[in-house]
Parts: sequence; structure tokens; C-alpha cells
Amino acid sequence: MPHILVTTKDRIARIELDRADKKNAITADMYQAMADALEAAEADPQVRVVLIHGKPDCFTAGNDLKDFLERPPSGDGSPVFRFLQGIAGAAKPLVAAVGGPAVGIGTTMLLHCDFVYASPNARFQMPFVTLGLVPEAGSSLLLPMLAGYQRAAELLLLGKPFTAEKALAAGIVTEIVSEGGLLEHALEVAGSLAALPPSSLRMTKALMKTRYASAVKEAMAAEGEKFRAQLGSAEAKEAMQAFFEKRKPDFSRF
Ligand code: COA
Repeated sequence: MPHILVTTKDRIARIELDRADKKNAITADMYQAMADALEAAEADPQVRVVLIHGKPDCFTAGNDLKDFLERPPSGDGSPVFRFLQGIAGAAKPLVAAVGGPAVGIGTTMLLHCDFVYASPNARFQMPFVTLGLVPEAGSSLLLPMLAGYQRAAELLLLGKPFTAEKALAAGIVTEIVSEGGLLEHALEVAGSLAALPPSSLRMTKALMKTRYASAVKEAMAAEGEKFRAQLGSAEAKEAMQAFFEKRKPDFSRF
């Protein structure tokens, strides 16, 4: 699998982002591999829980910006959308362990996880506006719901990086865990979940999520439409070119 490592052990399916030289930036092939892994985990009766993680010093730099420019997602069948549908609709519990940068979808995917552990070195960021884009993954609905409007507005409109403490206060993170013990702790919780009665566990998750499921779907569809339109915009091109040219973007002419 391309830069995605998938293993199943002790009823835990682990999905690991493994593209350290590009800060685990996610390409279409990687979304495809993660969507396939989620589907396989849902279908495998041996799997009770899914754990998503990166490296101790890097969760993910978010969507690969080169991919955004060269192979923008086209619609509902696109790998990124399949992945988002997979995490939004997962019946089995999702646990995430986050260290280092968690940018863009690296933060928004966490809104669909049931347990999010972060080490103090985690740096979250949702730079959609600064990239000339709009939020995705249902975050325009889920973040205000979770954190309250003002906190969500700060994080989504300014798009600045924020700490694990701030993510904890916003409700994005379940608990802050020491860097050395992050994966071990996430695995321990995943192990506890794997030992619980599986039907009861899934029904309880479903009961908590069902009420919002259609609203999340609607938000994702509305965001997707605007996101794809903005990807072709001059604002987004300037923002992404500036990243690769290692300079500040200039939005003064728009
Ligand atoms: N897409 C494509 N390549 C990326 C990337 C991304 N999202 N994020 C990092 N990279 C690449 C860099 O271009 C660089 O490649 P190079 O070594 O060939 O020049 C390499 O990964 C290392 O990145 P660098 O920026 O030097 O690392 P850093 O530790 O200084 O900073 C980040 C890490 C995550 C803070 C920074 O890379 C960043 O802001 N990335 C962009 C995040 C982003 O906007 N994501 C999209 C959200 S929708």
C-alpha cells in the first residue's frame, strides 16, 4: 500500500500514515488506501476497533498540496470523499493518536473519531481560508457544535496553528498524553474497547451519532461543492504556489 501501513492484531486494525519525508501529506492514492482499510475493518468480524496514527513527531501535513493543484478531487467518488464517508459512517470505534503537525484534514478527521489522544508536541491547524479554500469533512458543522461558535470561528477563519491544550479546551482532543507514551496509551484504550461486548459498543456509538448523521452528510456535500470550486480559484493557486516557493502569499489583488 502506498505510504499507508495497515495491520490487524488483537482485534485492532491499525492505519498508519508513513510518508515522513513529506510530513505524511496525503495523496489521492493514500486516501484510497485508507478508505479501503476502513472498509475492510468494518467488514472484518475479527476487527472491533480502528486506530489511526502517524509518526510520534508528525501526524499529517494534510492533503498533498501538489495533488490539489495537479489532481483536484472531482466528486463524491473521489478517494478523499470515500475516506471521509468511511470515517463519518464508521460503525466501529475510531481511536486517533496525534503527535506533531495535524494540518487540514489532519485536524478535521479527528472530529469523526471517538477517542483522540495528543502529545504536547501536537500542532493542529485548519488553514482552509488561508489556502483560499473552505472547510471540509463536515467541520463547518461539527466544530461549532463541539467548541462553540466563537472558538470555531477563531480556528476556522484565522486558520492559525494551535496547541494540544487549545485542542483539548475546544473538545477536539480527549486527553493529552506524554510523547513517549502516546501510541502505547492509544493502543491500551483500543485494547479496552476491543474487549467490550461488540454489539453493545456499536449500538451505543450509533445512538450517539445517528441524530447528526444526515446533517453531517449535508454539510459535507455543501462544503465539497464550494471546496472544489475554490480549488480552481486564483486565490487558492496563489496560496499553494506561495507554499512551494517558500514565500508569503499576496491576496491584495483579489
Ligand atoms: N503537501 C505537499 N508537500 C508537503 C506538504 C503538503 N501538505 N506539507 C509538507 N510538504 C513537504 C514540503 O514541501 C517539504 O518538501 P521538500 O523537502 O521536498 O521541500 C517537506 O514536506 C517538509 O516540509 P517542511 O515545510 O519543510 O516541514 P516543516 O517541519 O518546516 O513544516 C508543516 C511542517 C506541516 C507545518 C508545513 O510543511 C506545512 O505547513 N505544510 C502545509 C500544510 C497544509 O497547508 N496542508 C493542507 C491543508 S488543507
